[in-house]
Amino acid sequence: MASALITRRCSVAPMMGCTDPHARYFLRLCSRHTLLYTEMVPAQAVWHGRGERLLAYNSEEHSVAVQFGGSDPLQLAYCARMAEVHGYDEINLNVGCPSERVQAGRFGACLMAEPGLVAELVTAMRQATALPVTVKTRIGIDQQDGYAALAEFVECVANAGCRTFIVHARKAWLKGLSPKENRTRPPLRYDRVHQLKRDFPELEIVLNGGLRTLEQAEEQLAFVDGVMLGREAYRNPYLLAKADAQLFNDPRPVPTRHELVQAYLPYIERQLAAGVRLSGMTRHLLGLFQGRPGARAWRSHLSVGVARSGAGVEVIEQALRLVPRELESGAVFA
Ligand SMILES: Cc1cc2nc3c(=O)[nH]c(=O)nc-3n(C[C@H](O)[C@H](O)[C@H](O)COP(=O)(O)O)c2cc1C
Repeated sequence: MASALITRRCSVAPMMGCTDPHARYFLRLCSRHTLLYTEMVPAQAVWHGRGERLLAYNSEEHSVAVQFGGSDPLQLAYCARMAEVHGYDEINLNVGCPSERVQAGRFGACLMAEPGLVAELVTAMRQATALPVTVKTRIGIDQQDGYAALAEFVECVANAGCRTFIVHARKAWLKGLSPKENRTRPPLRYDRVHQLKRDFPELEIVLNGGLRTLEQAEEQLAFVDGVMLGREAYRNPYLLAKADAQLFNDPRPVPTRHELVQAYLPYIERQLAAGVRLSGMTRHLLGLFQGRPGARAWRSHLSVGVARSGAGVEVIEQALRLVPRELESGAVFA
């Protein structure tokens, strides 16, 4: 069941290979308020009948947004309906991925060159669902990298009814750079995203790219409506545990890392009983103790331990004992 209120003040970015349901379940334990995004789901795969598997998630993950990649209005309208039936809180269109495979399908970042088509896709999805339809985009692509082109793109898509734009503040080179290189080069231009918010005050503008700390996130919130954290939230998920207090003013105590792991164990046990591999869940925990004494022992015990046949949650409990306990927070997991 979709929750009534979504706040995009802080969100975790869609990341293929990272933000799967197991990761999101854990990230939700870390933060009650942060909006979570799925990995990109190819519209074509849903269209061809793989929706049930690709759209499965845990009800505890709310608020959760599903991101689709595609460029066919019919397929995306179908995806939007499926997402609503599954109870997602938001539908997001990927207009930011520069990979060659995605370009070959004529979707992702290359759609920035076709604002009219993106507007058509947004219209098709909005007609199929009452859920908010949002767009995640770049500040430009290749030679189309001036502010005027970005503003034109946003205006055109906003005219189709998109109220929320998540902007990765870096342009994408569609030829010559890999998706990985396209996340560190060319340089970030936060000023372009700030300008968008000034020029389109009625739109919700969320800034993404390069944020490593909550202090940096807070600084950006003076200029935009929301921040989206990608790699740092995944590498160092404890950052999110502090986000509730720092960015959402939640007065409840921040859970300790040990408490978060303990709260994740029953989920892991249920998933193991359903035949899920242990490593598919523990891989999302590797960065939890980053920067803390015992972090290396935690990582290596988890990595080696889960590979043993028949390994269960005891591997995680053993790894936990290798890390000094922090002060108890008294947080309660309801
Ligand atoms: C491993 C990985 C996978 C990603 N997959 C997606 C994706 O599926 N959809 C998308 O819109 N962006 C994807 N991205 C880009 C992120 O959503 C985000 O825009 C980018 O990492 C910049 O934010 P950051 O600097 O906070 O990491 C991915 C990034 C990484 C590192």
